[in-house]
Amino acid sequence: MSEKITVSVIKADVGSVVGHSRPHPSMMDKCREMLTDGQKQGIIEDFYVTRVGDDINLLMTHYKGENHKDVHGLAWNAFMEATKLAKKMKMYAAGQDLLTDAFSGNVKGAGPGSAEMEFAERASEPMLFFMADKTEPAAYSLPLSRIFLDPFTTTGLVIDARAKKGFDVEIHDVKDSKKVVMSSPEETLSILSLLGDTTRYAIKRITSRSGIGPAAVVSTDKLNMTAGKYVGKDDPVCICRSQSGLPAVGEFLQPFMNTMLVAGWMRGSHVGALYPCSVDNSDPTYFDGPPRICCIGFQLNDGRFQGIEPMDSKPGIHQPIDFFEGQVWDHVRSNAVKASKMMRGHGPFMPAILSPEEMEYTSRPEVLKELTKRLEKLD
Ligand code: F6R
Ligand code: MG
Ligand code: MG
Repeated sequence: MSEKITVSVIKADVGSVVGHSRPHPSMMDKCREMLTDGQKQGIIEDFYVTRVGDDINLLMTHYKGENHKDVHGLAWNAFMEATKLAKKMKMYAAGQDLLTDAFSGNVKGAGPGSAEMEFAERASEPMLFFMADKTEPAAYSLPLSRIFLDPFTTTGLVIDARAKKGFDVEIHDVKDSKKVVMSSPEETLSILSLLGDTTRYAIKRITSRSGIGPAAVVSTDKLNMTAGKYVGKDDPVCICRSQSGLPAVGEFLQPFMNTMLVAGWMRGSHVGALYPCSVDNSDPTYFDGPPRICCIGFQLNDGRFQGIEPMDSKPGIHQPIDFFEGQVWDHVRSNAVKASKMMRGHGPFMPAILSPEEMEYTSRPEVLKELTKRLEKLD
């Protein structure tokens, strides 16, 4: 195939069963039905419907390029139909992430998150899909920095000639809607000087400097900013291509062995540790969390997702590798619970809660209003 393939992940929380836990299976089935139609109509080449916690993730391949109205429209309609079911079943927060009645051809600014990359499919194309719940896009900045900028994580940066050429990192200022592309290794320390401020900066995209094309893309649609007020954390996804001049699958996974604190837990207002787990184990079970991260992998096969399903299985039925499922991650999970518990020990005090500007919920303006007359100047 010479034509470039586009891999799109469009995701939304349109309601779940028992608080913010898990979309009802019939909502996921409805999305599958809608995407099967889209596949028949030739809008998309292939798809896989999955979830992390209460978010439905639509993985799609097509030859239409990024931001295509038909692909975005298909995802939007799937979420609308899933919402109808959610409302009928009185699911919690039904339709939460669909912020407009007048869809204008692109999910950007309309509520759902999206990450898309267009590239020439290589002879063999191993792909990873990270999906997080109860956190924000900048949660990927630390692990992606380790993967693409840190030779103590990715030995390939030292010993693979193509990886050694480095990577271009597109950084978004999610508050002021600005972007900049910086190059590693030359500008690594300056890159980290920005990314360290996770309230403002997040990695959007990473591109190979040896001509392989895009290597990672994150959904950075800051929902709270989009809606003009906080309506929930983004629960971002990250699409990655790996191997042969890019970080190996194992190099992508390695940083998740570290326990990382991220923002967005409980009421979008707390800090908790990232808990790597399988898709099946991604229901939030402790204080609406801890923030979950899943990682599934597919090969691409001429624009189709190739998992471990039998070769003659039906289109749209796929079985990815679920990388965080196994026992090797048990001690990381247990460390994540320990770290999260430690944060919980602070109750409503910082650093367990976010800085005032980042809180999704706050009662402070009302409290201060009530106190107006009682507030006195210090002597
Ligand atoms: C939502 C989430 C939850 C909610 C919390 C309060 O995905 O992360 O932690 O923020 O359960 O929800 P409401 O305000 O709907 O009662
Ligand atoms: Mg939710
Ligand atoms: Mg969620």
